Amino acid sequence: MLNFVFHNPTKIIFGKGTISQLAEEIAPDKKVLMTFGGGSIKSNGVYDQVKKALCGYTLFEFGGIEPNPRYETLMKAVAVCKDRNIDFLLAVGGGSVLDGTKFIAAAVDFKGADPWDILEKHAPVESAIPIGSVLTLAATGSESNGFAVISRESTKEKLAFASQYTFPKFSILDPQTTISLPRRQTINGIVDAFVHVCEQYVTFDVDTPLQARQAESILLTLMEIAHNVLDQPDNYDARANLMWCATQALNGLIGCGVAHDWSTHMIGHELTALYGIDHAQSLACVMPAVWRHQKNNKGHRLIQYANRVLGISSGSDGEIIEQAISKTVDFFHSLNMPTRLSDYAIASDRFDEIASRVIGHKGKLGEHAVIGEQEVVDILNLAL
Ligand code: NZQ
Ligand code: ZN
Repeated sequence: MLNFVFHNPTKIIFGKGTISQLAEEIAPDKKVLMTFGGGSIKSNGVYDQVKKALCGYTLFEFGGIEPNPRYETLMKAVAVCKDRNIDFLLAVGGGSVLDGTKFIAAAVDFKGADPWDILEKHAPVESAIPIGSVLTLAATGSESNGFAVISRESTKEKLAFASQYTFPKFSILDPQTTISLPRRQTINGIVDAFVHVCEQYVTFDVDTPLQARQAESILLTLMEIAHNVLDQPDNYDARANLMWCATQALNGLIGCGVAHDWSTHMIGHELTALYGIDHAQSLACVMPAVWRHQKNNKGHRLIQYANRVLGISSGSDGEIIEQAISKTVDFFHSLNMPTRLSDYAIASDRFDEIASRVIGHKGKLGEHAVIGEQEVVDILNLAL
């Protein structure tokens, strides 16, 4: 097992009606800025529940955080925080609102010249305004981690940072809030959580049977419940199980002591930045291509995944690996999630540029750090 530190300070408050507990988590003397997205919380009643729960608080609002939250917008919220002396941020929404709020929290306290340096130059985050969240979309795990992914519209960049200071102090997860999700966002959430597990599991074995089984159990559960959620969108238990899977997929636990990949995510972020496809849509195209390209390096784990998650046991190693990839693609297709870049009318004309951008931002990718520019181009061609 590899060395690790596991420190997840986020308190999770899970279940029906839990938004009403907000006031127990935020000191009454705090000046709170509630952040949210394009308005879904106003039409599904979440906004009213938050306002009611925080009645009597000094509460300001900042709406309009976009999917794939933009630096340009978030800097406006930073100005509001400074102007109003905000000392608590409450993010109400999906991963984009949570990530955007983490950036706001870090940027307000940032001592350097430009908070973009946190993303581009890995400038250290030394403090941040405390954050709480009310999650309305099960997907990213942002409710229980310190990561944030921020886009810059002017340069078409999409970059991530992580800090111990940007873990939410608490996250309220009421699965009822996710019933209003458009089908496409529910599908995105299933695929994002699935790929988060794969990035930490379909790598190489370092003798971690517990973490392997934890990862497999999340994959099996996602496959088992995916169609229940889609066929019965208002089934509370199906929603609740999806929400807890998504949190577990990226709250750090299954990643303890194991080899991580994340090449699918890094390549996917560039595709979203350039073409605007949803985060999960990019992952569903890239991951099967990464697996095909890296099947020698990932062969042992792909066979384990085929055996234990997909129930495939007969055939040569090569046949089992191929089936593992094609059955995963079948699973995505069964959700109506496309798996080809050509499904989004993306052609190969900018593959060199994408490869140079991602390697420029991240260096060589993958659990063995063997994916350089040419390999990224090859992977993108496999995803066409
Ligand atoms: O903006 P509003 O009006 O709220 O609408 C949102 C948005 O249009 C809508 N929505 C959210 N909850 C809803 C709802 N609509 C109806 N009912 C609800 N209950 O859904 C749309 C998408 O929301 P968004 O927050 O963008 O989706 P998601 O949670 O999938 O977040 C994606 C972002 O998270 C980043 C991605 O790169 C992307 O920017 N990621 C963050 C990670 C992390 N922090 O750990 C890891 C991930 O790998 C990912 O990179
Ligand atoms: Zn993701």
